Amino acid sequence: MFLTWNIVVLLCNYLFLIILRKMFLRGRLGFSVASAAAIVFTFWPVKLASGATLVPDEVDVLREIAKTLGKTDWNFGVDPCSGESNWRNATAPKEFANAVTCDCSFENSTTCHVVSIVLKSQSLPGELPPELVKLPYLREFDVTRNYLSGNIPPIWGTMQLVNISLNSNRISGTIPKELGNISTLANLTLDFNQLSGTIPPELGNLSRLQRLTLTSNNWTGELPRTLANLTALKEFWIGDCNFTGSIPNFIENWKSIEYLVIHGSGLKGPIPPGIASLTNLTDLRISDLSGNDTTFPNLRGATNMKTLVLRSCNIVGQLPDYLGSLTKLRVL
Ligand SMILES: *[C@@H]1O[C@H](CO)[C@@H](O)[C@H](O)[C@H]1NC(C)=O
Ligand SMILES: *[C@@H]1O[C@H](CO)[C@@H](O)[C@H](O)[C@H]1NC(C)=O
Ligand SMILES: *[C@@H]1O[C@H](CO)[C@@H](O)[C@H](O)[C@H]1NC(C)=O
Ligand SMILES: *[C@@H]1O[C@H](CO)[C@@H](O)[C@H](O)[C@H]1NC(C)=O
Ligand SMILES: *[C@@H]1O[C@H](CO)[C@@H](O)[C@H](O)[C@H]1NC(C)=O
Ligand SMILES: *[C@@H]1O[C@H](CO)[C@@H](O)[C@H](O)[C@H]1NC(C)=O
Ligand SMILES: *[C@@H]1O[C@H](CO)[C@@H](O)[C@H](O)[C@H]1NC(C)=O
Ligand SMILES: *[C@@H]1O[C@H](CO)[C@@H](O)[C@H](O)[C@H]1NC(C)=O
Ligand SMILES: *[C@@H]1O[C@H](CO)[C@@H](O)[C@H](O)[C@H]1NC(C)=O
Ligand SMILES: *[C@@H]1O[C@H](CO)[C@@H](O)[C@H](O)[C@H]1NC(C)=O
Ligand SMILES: *[C@@H]1O[C@H](CO)[C@@H](O)[C@H](O)[C@H]1NC(C)=O
Repeated sequence: MFLTWNIVVLLCNYLFLIILRKMFLRGRLGFSVASAAAIVFTFWPVKLASGATLVPDEVDVLREIAKTLGKTDWNFGVDPCSGESNWRNATAPKEFANAVTCDCSFENSTTCHVVSIVLKSQSLPGELPPELVKLPYLREFDVTRNYLSGNIPPIWGTMQLVNISLNSNRISGTIPKELGNISTLANLTLDFNQLSGTIPPELGNLSRLQRLTLTSNNWTGELPRTLANLTALKEFWIGDCNFTGSIPNFIENWKSIEYLVIHGSGLKGPIPPGIASLTNLTDLRISDLSGNDTTFPNLRGATNMKTLVLRSCNIVGQLPDYLGSLTKLRVL
């Protein structure tokens, strides 16, 4: 289709040249062949020079997404995958990252699909866009530090997202149970929002989840037992919320865990004995546990420990001698 279009354009230009030449020869035209050539070039399609472009459907979807988010500076006069204009700011520091990223390897590198949308600290005033589902190749959606409100669209559960970060917005409602169906999900970052309710048991189905951060929301209820199945987990952060129940012993299943942070979460002590099997821990920070007095947890195996904070956990008795052998320990 592309080729036939170019042939048509070429033919038109050729005819145009012939007409100009005739007019010139008859003396009806005062300007030179050079300016005729300049006119021809202005009719040359811009597309010819620019290579692969975003499929038109996805351009329309980006228009809808812009409207829902309140993103006003995307320039639809250029291709969203061009990296030009406001589609990708190469000079922005990480915390202001502003980029739409495409994979342009489709149909012999003539066609692009959007794979990532990262819009950090853009003061976006709108809501989370359900329209994301119309970007079938989208793997990452990051809107860290904006003013987005409303709920997490349950329909996102049908996508194959790998990274979701909604950190520091005004999102409310509950976590839709449908998110448990995103089997590709590796990072789910929901800190500093106004989310509430209980953590849906369905999240236990996220077998590839590496990072689950939920700090500063209005959570209630117990941590569901199904979270025991999150065996790929490397980071788990909760705090500043109102969970009930005790720190579950099933955390012993999180053998890959490196960061375990439980600050003022509402959960009761004691720190369960299962913590002894988490030998890959590098950061363990637990604070403000209610409940009975306990002794210092067994962390003998956690030889990579760098940061250890156990504050207001009702720990009594002596510090164990093996702490001296945790040679990487910096903060205690
Ligand atoms: C890119 O980001 C930098 C730093 O945040 C900003 O000063 C600049 O205006 C941005 N450029 C565009 C085209 O928005
Ligand atoms: C893809 O491009 C290559 C090199 O330009 C060409 O040889 C090949 O025939 C093309 N394949 C298709 C399916 O268009
Ligand atoms: C997910 O986010 C991490 C960290 O920002 C990044 O390195 C990784 O490439 C992202 N994955 C995808 C599939 O976009
Ligand atoms: C998850 O996906 C399965 C299979 O497509 C579907 O039957 C189920 O209803 C989905 N669960 C949720 C909570 O959406
Ligand atoms: C998840 O995020 C972490 C840290 O930002 C990153 O290193 C990792 O690559 C991400 N995982 C995937 C599968 O993109
Ligand atoms: C996901 O988890 C829920 C509750 O934990 C379970 O009932 C459901 O069958 C699981 N869904 C899939 C697709 O595994
Ligand atoms: C969340 O909790 C804070 C303080 O505990 C409260 O002011 C706020 O109204 C709550 N928000 C929701 C959505 O429940
Ligand atoms: C963990 O997953 C397995 C298999 O997917 C399932 O049989 C089991 O009930 C799950 N455990 C919990 C605590 O949800
Ligand atoms: C927890 O709940 C209590 C009482 O319901 C409330 O006063 C407090 O602000 C809540 N804390 C958080 C962090 O939501
Ligand atoms: C613990 O960390 C080591 C070194 O980083 C890694 O090789 C190993 O797979 C990790 N163990 C688990 C259970 O993730
Ligand atoms: C705390 O101690 C009391 C008295 O010994 C006991 O009855 C209670 O079950 C303990 N609570 C917990 C959470 O272990």
